[in-house]
Amino acid sequence: MLTQEENELLTRTGPGTPMGEFFRRFWTPVMLSEEIPEPDCTPARVRVLNEDLIGFRDTDGNVGLIDAYCAHRFSPLFFGMNEESGLRCLYHGWKYDYTGQCVDIPFIPEGESFKSKVKLKSYPALDKGGFIWAYMGPPELQPPFPDFDFAAIPESHRENWKIVCECNWMQSMEGQNDPSHLYFTHGFRDITDGGPGVQMGLNSGSALSRVRLPSAVVDTEFGISFATVWNNEEEEQRVSIDHFIIPNFDPSPSYNNLGGGKFPLGYQRMRVPIDDLNCMVLRVRWNPYEPLLEEFREAHNAWLVPEKLPGTYKPVANKSNDYLVDREMQRGYNYSGINNFPLQDICQIEDQGGPIMDRTRERLTSQDTLNIHIRHQLIKAARDLQEGQEPAAPHRPELFKVRRSTVQAAKGTPAMQVLQEALKELVPAE
Ligand code: FES
Ligand SMILES: [Fe+2]
Repeated sequence: MLTQEENELLTRTGPGTPMGEFFRRFWTPVMLSEEIPEPDCTPARVRVLNEDLIGFRDTDGNVGLIDAYCAHRFSPLFFGMNEESGLRCLYHGWKYDYTGQCVDIPFIPEGESFKSKVKLKSYPALDKGGFIWAYMGPPELQPPFPDFDFAAIPESHRENWKIVCECNWMQSMEGQNDPSHLYFTHGFRDITDGGPGVQMGLNSGSALSRVRLPSAVVDTEFGISFATVWNNEEEEQRVSIDHFIIPNFDPSPSYNNLGGGKFPLGYQRMRVPIDDLNCMVLRVRWNPYEPLLEEFREAHNAWLVPEKLPGTYKPVANKSNDYLVDREMQRGYNYSGINNFPLQDICQIEDQGGPIMDRTRERLTSQDTLNIHIRHQLIKAARDLQEGQEPAAPHRPELFKVRRSTVQAAKGTPAMQVLQEALKELVPAE
C-alpha cells in the first residue's frame, strides 16, 4: 500500500515530475524502427512521457525526433512533407532538419535570416535493435547506449513488437513482476497427457502450472534481483535468478532452448509511458546465433501476437469489446477464455479500478513482494534525483547485459546465499 503522494510520484511521468525526470536520465525506446522504415518515409506520431513528438528519417537516413508542432503557428508536422533532408510544414512551408533546426522559411524577405533563430525541441535519437530510442534528459548528462544483447545482432535474428495499452505504465510493469498471476491468468485447465496445456509444451513442472514465489530479493545497482527455488525435494535444488532493470526493463533475457535447441530464444520487454493513462509494451525476441526460423515465428505468433486494428498498435480484442472473452472456452479449456497470452494480461491490467489504480486501498500480501521492492526502489530513485542525486545506472552500459539464469545448489542452501553467489557473476562472458 502506498500513500497518495507515493502513488502520484510512481505513476506521473510528464516533464518536471520526479518519475518523469528519472525516466529522462535513460535511453528510452519510443517506437519501432519499422514505423519510419526508410529515408524520406512518411513521418510518424510519437507520444512518449506525456510529450508529443514527430519521428522521421531524412534523406540521409538520420532519425529526427522533434516537436510534433510547427514553431510558426503550431500546425501538426505529421501532415508535412519529408523530402530533401527535412520535414516541411504543410501550412506555410517552414522546413526543419532532423535536429529541429528551421532551414527554410519561404515567401518572406526576412525568412533567410529569421530561420536561424528558429529551432524546435528535439531529442537525440538512435535506431538500435529494431527500436528508435530517445534521450530526453539534460544534454550534458547523456549516457552511452546500454549494452543490450538484442541491439548487437542482425535484423534477421530478431522480431520486434509493440502494443498500446489503455492504462498507466506501472500497471503493465506490475503485471510483469507478479509470479502468482501465471496459474490462473495464463493457465490451462488440463495439463494431463493430451490436454491443451501439454499441447502448448507445458507440464506439471512448468512455470504456468506451479506458483512459486521468490525466496530472496535484493536491491542491486541496476534494479532488483531475486531467487526462486523450483525444486527442493531432491538432493539438489534448482534456483532461478531473475532481474528487474530500472526503470522499466524486463527481468532480462534468458536463452531458453525451446524446441530441443532449435529456437534459442532471447526475450525482453519494456514498458514505456505514452502519457499517464496509456503505455506501450515493446517486446523483442531473438536468436543470438542465427536468423529466426519461419517455423518459430508461426508457432509462437498465434499465442504471443494479438491481431491489431489496421493502422494501429491496438488489439482487435480490446477493452471496448471485453477482449472478446469466450465464456465457453473459460469453462472447458483455460481459465481466461482468451487464447492469447498478452491479451490475458491486458484484460487484467487496463482497468484495475481505472487506468491509474488507487494504491492507497489495495491489500498486498507476500504475493506482491517483487512489486513492493520495485515500487520502493523507483520511488527512492526518483526522490534521490529530486534532491540532486543523479542515478549511476544509466552510465554503466554493461549493467543492461544481465541475464536470467538457473543454478543448481545443494539441498538446504539458503536462497539468499545462492542469490548472492550468482550476483558475483552477473554479466556472463559470451
Ligand atoms: S504553421 Fe507551420 S509554417 Fe505556418
Ligand atoms: Fe502475464
